[in-house]
Amino acid sequence: MLAEVLHHLSPHEGSIIVDCTLGGAGHAAEIAALIAPTGLLVGIDQDDAALAAAADVLRLGQQTRLLKGNFGDLDALLAGANIPYVDGFLFDLGVSSPQLDFVERGFSYHGNAPLDMRMDPAAGGITAADVVNSYQESDLARVIREYGEERWATRIAAFIVAARARRPVTSTSELVDIIKSAVPAAARKDGPHPARRTFQALRIEVNRELDVLESALDAAVRWLSPGGRIVVISYHSLEDRAVKQAFARLSQTCTCPPELPVCVCGVKPVVRVLTRRAVTPTPEEVERNPRARSAKLRAAVKL
Ligand SMILES: C[S@@+](CC[C@H](N)C(=O)[O-])C[C@H]1O[C@@H](n2cnc3c(N)ncnc32)[C@H](O)[C@@H]1O
Repeated sequence: MLAEVLHHLSPHEGSIIVDCTLGGAGHAAEIAALIAPTGLLVGIDQDDAALAAAADVLRLGQQTRLLKGNFGDLDALLAGANIPYVDGFLFDLGVSSPQLDFVERGFSYHGNAPLDMRMDPAAGGITAADVVNSYQESDLARVIREYGEERWATRIAAFIVAARARRPVTSTSELVDIIKSAVPAAARKDGPHPARRTFQALRIEVNRELDVLESALDAAVRWLSPGGRIVVISYHSLEDRAVKQAFARLSQTCTCPPELPVCVCGVKPVVRVLTRRAVTPTPEEVERNPRARSAKLRAAVKL
């Protein structure tokens, strides 16, 4: 959704833009060209492999800085890099194509790899194998239902628990087989890969993806200069709902009854929402890049 991102982010020469999910710098490279030569592009990613790939694409220097970290720590990252203010933030959430395609990372249900799924393995933290082998059955079902929106969550959790009683589930292909045996054949006939939703759920749990989102959006809005933009692309409904609700809260206007002569509620909008409905990719883009099919873009401007 490059054109839509650039339209809503509105970068121009001299802008300070922070890409909080740098990935392979596909968006960032375009932004860097538009804000050059006086602008500053700050790219954040928690994944060392993404930062290395982005460094190959971008010309690093005074005008382009890369920061390793989680956007949940946005205040510390930006303050640590002496960023004075920000004209635009981009959040292109979730997992990148290279993360999915590099089978060894354990994000993909194609191929066989250790069940890892950490975006920042260097930081330690739990792996997908830890979740699958140690969570209580009810917690496993909740994670798969909530984060995967999987209707067969209870059955999948029960099948995982039965399988791990025999021996720990440690590889992606073992998990795929368990999921396939849990999902009834009729339900497997059409639609996406039967493991897609469970893998998404485990990835969100392992990386605490929803936990950091709301506080990161609040922090980003505090750093924005008046007229600055924030653009968020999400890939599943829970994420999109969190963005929509955060924007609704931040754009809330005075709630006092109209007959009151002065405001007593103290509610003042901080942003104006630019996208009444989420912007979705064109059919041509989905054809070119099927992974974009669930993308939803929302944007707001700082008042
Ligand atoms: C969808 S990709 C971004 C792709 C990028 N827009 C491009 O054009 O190449 C998401 C990236 O954000 C990173 N990421 C996801 N959550 C993050 C977080 N909480 N903090 C920092 N980086 C994160 C992932 O490691 C991944 O590289």
